[in-house]
Amino acid sequence: MAKRLKIHEVVKYPDPVLAKRGEAITEFGPELKALVDEMFDSMYAAQGIGLAAPQISLSKRITVIDVSFKKDPEQKIALINPEVVERTGKQVEEEGCLSLPEIREKVERAAWVKVRAQDVTGKWFEVEGEELLARALQHEIDHLDGVLFIDRISRLKRELVLRKIRKLQKNGEW
Ligand code: CO
Repeated sequence: MAKRLKIHEVVKYPDPVLAKRGEAITEFGPELKALVDEMFDSMYAAQGIGLAAPQISLSKRITVIDVSFKKDPEQKIALINPEVVERTGKQVEEEGCLSLPEIREKVERAAWVKVRAQDVTGKWFEVEGEELLARALQHEIDHLDGVLFIDRISRLKRELVLRKIRKLQKNGEW
């Protein structure tokens, strides 16, 4: 039987779910595995390299990342209850977000991070990343704390972004 595909809609800023801290996951069963698969499918459908559960209106500590965008199965990572446990260095690169379409701004992040998380079976593991993976890990874990990348730019730049969003909203393009 072919796998049933369920694509979840990605919510946009300023949906309040994006500003909430997600709840920890305590049950690791087939439902969680199915949800993670749906999150990967929804992320790919939206052309993203990372997706956090709050972005599909689920206030839970789950995120999926694939910085290779389907090219390398080894880079598909599902993180349940992730925490950044170590960070070093600094990188400043442009960032975007599926919940803030068409907005791109330079964001300062740690250059390297070590993250501790559980897999879909509840087993703890660690993942280390630099460059784009480090950025994706920090961006997605921020989502689980109700933080968006526009919360990490200067007040002036943030004001300009919010003005652009208001204009798009007014034109029915947001
Ligand atoms: Co995002």
